Amino acid sequence: MKLRMIGLLGLALTAGATLALGAEGGNARKGKYLYKNSCKECHSEGSEGGELTPMSKTMKQWDRYFEKKADEHPGETFGEISEKDMKDIIQFLYDHAKDSPSPETCG
Ligand code: HEC
Repeated sequence: MKLRMIGLLGLALTAGATLALGAEGGNARKGKYLYKNSCKECHSEGSEGGELTPMSKTMKQWDRYFEKKADEHPGETFGEISEKDMKDIIQFLYDHAKDSPSPETCG
């Protein structure tokens, strides 16, 4: 019984850690490529989602967006992208955020 509780606690902690990690462990180079392919069509100047580049937000704002707001993103896009690819995209946006060491405008 006690062991089982510890097991469950471990699981909860692992899940929490994964979520809290946010922008860590993704491949930003791959993320850039994926962003171009999956996001740019709606997120360049004049398109329906409005222009969006890594520099549109600070690192903290990107973290917060993907932690709290991503569920509200219109359309099916986020649901269609695998968790792994999404992680790479988040990494790309985060690594080149407005207040990052290497801000980037191109997406
Ligand atoms: C089918 C079109 C479409 C695609 C594809 C798309 N988006 Fe969006 N996105 C939108 C629209 C529409 C909005 C809402 C814009 C608004 O509220 O003005 C939005 C909003 C957002 C916002 C919030 C913008 C803000 O100002 O806070 C973020 C962040 C975002 N999208 C990221 C992404 C990412 C990352 C991808 C690729 C994985 C993506 N979007 C792909 C249409 C799209």
